[in-house]
Amino acid sequence: MATKKNNTIKLKFDSARNLAPAPESKSAAKIDPQYDLFINGKFEKPSGKKYFPTINPATEEKLSMIAEANTADVNKAVVAARTAYDKTWKKMPAAERAKYIYRIARMIQERAREFAIIETLDGGKPIRESRDFDVPTAANHFFYYAGWADKLEYAFPNRRTEPLGVAGQIIPWNFPLLMAAWKIAPALACGNTVVLKPAENTSLTALKLAEIIQEADLPPGVVNIITGAGATGAAIVNHADVNKIAFTGSTEVGKIIQRAIAGTNKKATLELGGKAANIIFDDAPLDQAVEGVINGIFFNQGHVCCAGSRLYVQESVFKEVVRKLKDRLETLIVGDPMDKNTDIGAINSKAQLDIINKYIRIGQQEGAEMYQPSCAVPKKGFFCKPTIFTNVAQSNRIAQEEIFGPVLAIQSFRTDDEVIEKANNTPYGLSAGVWTDKGSKIFNLTTKLRAGVVWANTFNKFDPTSPFGGYKESGYGREGGLQGLSAYVNIIENR
Ligand code: NAI
Ligand code: MG
Repeated sequence: MATKKNNTIKLKFDSARNLAPAPESKSAAKIDPQYDLFINGKFEKPSGKKYFPTINPATEEKLSMIAEANTADVNKAVVAARTAYDKTWKKMPAAERAKYIYRIARMIQERAREFAIIETLDGGKPIRESRDFDVPTAANHFFYYAGWADKLEYAFPNRRTEPLGVAGQIIPWNFPLLMAAWKIAPALACGNTVVLKPAENTSLTALKLAEIIQEADLPPGVVNIITGAGATGAAIVNHADVNKIAFTGSTEVGKIIQRAIAGTNKKATLELGGKAANIIFDDAPLDQAVEGVINGIFFNQGHVCCAGSRLYVQESVFKEVVRKLKDRLETLIVGDPMDKNTDIGAINSKAQLDIINKYIRIGQQEGAEMYQPSCAVPKKGFFCKPTIFTNVAQSNRIAQEEIFGPVLAIQSFRTDDEVIEKANNTPYGLSAGVWTDKGSKIFNLTTKLRAGVVWANTFNKFDPTSPFGGYKESGYGREGGLQGLSAYVNIIENR
């Protein structure tokens, strides 16, 4: 009976891989040949006159040229943000501020298809992800924080708050539009002004957001979006008139930022790397758990800071789970991110693909056993087969270090205490997942796992109302939800 059921599932999946291509149309999105800096409500040429290319990682073709902001441009943006803060935004009634934030949310919804296409072309993630997750969740963040703007007295009862001033925000390439929304929406709701820098290989949707901000008539200077690489980011961090740094990216750069702002009055929230453990107990709904594991590490190419890159399976179901995982891997579609059937798109950059391939070699050298499905990957562009490792030791680098790619390290465990110890034994603590039928087990683990987010019988679920952030080297501060407001206010007195 069980075999018959498995065969039916397999047949369904086999036919999924043979589906005719269903590519989204590129023509529904307009990409200009060149983009300038968005400062004080206008698009301006960079003072150093330098531009750098942004490419489509699935084809290696150039999409556009992006302006590189130097220190003078960063200064211009900070001055614009300070002036807008002092003269306009700080003084504006909160309910008025909320209207602007709502307007931005609605305009993202209206242009959702265009945003999804550009996100996929510029970053390589499957159109299904951009369309169904990134863009709607970005709009939802603006809606959610618009609602808080005139209700801060309820968010901080019996206390009086004031905005921080100018927020410098630096974001990575894995969720370009969504990270911009996470950072801009709460900052504006609390009355701050913003200088935001997207990652250098995925600037386009942030620049499209700048167009929306301009069309929404947000007062000039309230949001400035400037582009460039690490040097531009460092100039924002080191600018004397920036009051707060919000950063998402590598732990390495997070540490540089921490050192740079030590001894200043700048506040900071840092959301850094992760090495999340997914834990499957023998009483878990195994098919559902396997699907959650696949979703947690392979969809989105593993380019997720909270990706479930480690899997711990209770010994009695270990073999069965690994077999189910391999079966499911065999059905995943790797390829053109613009195809609506694609599960795993392009790796974001050549540099990231090199990092992932390095770790795949390290895993083999460390003696772990590698498995990859038989699928073909496109010859052009940056692609990586979904990869699992068994026979992994806790001390192996593939079980300790962030790979940020579709690579899963699997180990077995016997008892709750053993798996808690193993799961906590990395420098990171961003997220974790627990799969079991028993509520008591879930509560036992959620209190003992040193991770900012613990999902139970699901994984990688996001909502603007729930806070997100890490322990240990995964950073500090919380984004999202009520907690996300605290990062953008000073509490000046108790009432
Ligand atoms: P990164 O940390 O260098 O880049 C993130 C952002 O920081 C980008 O906007 C970048 O321009 C900016 N930046 C770089 N150097 C800076 C500096 N000195 N001061 C201020 N801003 C600076 O990350 P990268 O090099 O793209 O990826 C390297 C590794 O980092 C990945 O392999 C992955 O493991 C991890 N990563 C983690 C992310 C997360 O969401 N936690 C996101 C992206 C990368
Ligand atoms: Mg690109």
